[in-house]
Amino acid sequence: MPSEVRVSIAGASGYTGGELIRLLLAHPGVRIQQVSSQRFAGKSVGKVHPNLRKGTDLSFSPLEEMQPCDALFLCLPHGESSKRKDWVDGIAPRVVDLSADFRLADAALYERWYGKPHPHPELLGSYVYGIPELHREEMRGAMRVSSAGCNATATILGLHPLYAADVVELDRTVVEVKVGSSEGGNESGPATHHPERSGCVRSFAPTGHRHTAEMIQELGRGREIAIHFSATSIDMVRGVLATSHVFLKQDLDEKAIWKIYREAYGGEPFIRIVKERDGNYRFPEPKILAGTNLCDVGFQRDPASNRLVVVSAIDNLMKGAAGQAVPAFNLMCGFEETTALGFLGLHPI
Ligand SMILES: NC(=O)c1ccc[n+]([C@@H]2O[C@H](COP(=O)([O-])OP(=O)(O)OC[C@H]3O[C@@H](n4cnc5c(N)ncnc54)[C@H](OP(=O)(O)O)[C@@H]3O)[C@@H](O)[C@H]2O)c1
Repeated sequence: MPSEVRVSIAGASGYTGGELIRLLLAHPGVRIQQVSSQRFAGKSVGKVHPNLRKGTDLSFSPLEEMQPCDALFLCLPHGESSKRKDWVDGIAPRVVDLSADFRLADAALYERWYGKPHPHPELLGSYVYGIPELHREEMRGAMRVSSAGCNATATILGLHPLYAADVVELDRTVVEVKVGSSEGGNESGPATHHPERSGCVRSFAPTGHRHTAEMIQELGRGREIAIHFSATSIDMVRGVLATSHVFLKQDLDEKAIWKIYREAYGGEPFIRIVKERDGNYRFPEPKILAGTNLCDVGFQRDPASNRLVVVSAIDNLMKGAAGQAVPAFNLMCGFEETTALGFLGLHPI
């Protein structure tokens, strides 16, 4: 790789694109070459992302004017990157796609959850699934990575150690996520109008959420599993809190469960096991993760049954999107995985 990697971002006026610009401006090995927006073409980045005023003098270009670069991040709505497959191939050898277009490896799983056949089934499986804690080695030197969904990231990271250790019943897991409004991107609509959105606790996907497919793929790893997943919007801008109920196959005490999590995550730079006896923040809470690439994971065993409750929290725009895309890029290009991701968050916030 060249000492300075030329990076462009397609869909950079959106929320995940804005976070990527913020992170990559601080990356010592990156020069941001171009950032795209159709709506804001010609306007400065600071006009759209006010936190970046004085941080850069870049302006947005329309997608059609983007030039070849070393690595391309795609922050476009679902379906847009697969539609532009040839354009993407011609622009950059290395691609990190933040959309859902290439997350699934199996065409039948895609059709079942997205309700239509994939437009390029031949490409499924050619992207590495973007959670580094699960796919780090495949990412080193890879040319294509597909970042995971934010709800899927929070859920998978909470449950992965238990599924990998094969200690939970495979057909009974129930997950509820509470999510912030930035999950929906920066396009406004009737559901995001302030009087409608403010103060809401809105069950928007009691069943059928598409991210369930990623959970089945990544937690099942070829085994037949069921994840009973529901999602609720709450009055928060950033953040996902996943509360997962799993049922243990064996009578494991909390010490044994600690051991499973410590073995899986003890060496992980972006995962913290959070389970305190006292204080306000005894279990993971997305509020203090805003702007960080951290995933906090905690658990509690129900002493009266074999139920284990796992609580996992992330910032959807960071560990659930742009933050997750940067370690993938770092591994693809041979940088230290943690480069440009040192922010530890704010307290109080
Ligand atoms: N928000 C999250 O928490 C989150 C988490 C994980 C993954 N994702 C995924 O990441 C992707 C981006 O999400 P986001 O929240 O950043 O969305 P967003 O805020 O709505 O931004 C979308 C971006 O795509 C551009 N765009 C839209 N339609 C386009 C088209 N037809 N041709 C070219 N450019 C187009 C927009 O540019 P204009 O200025 O021209 O409109 C904007 O820059 C989505 O696929 C989303 O599912 C989002």
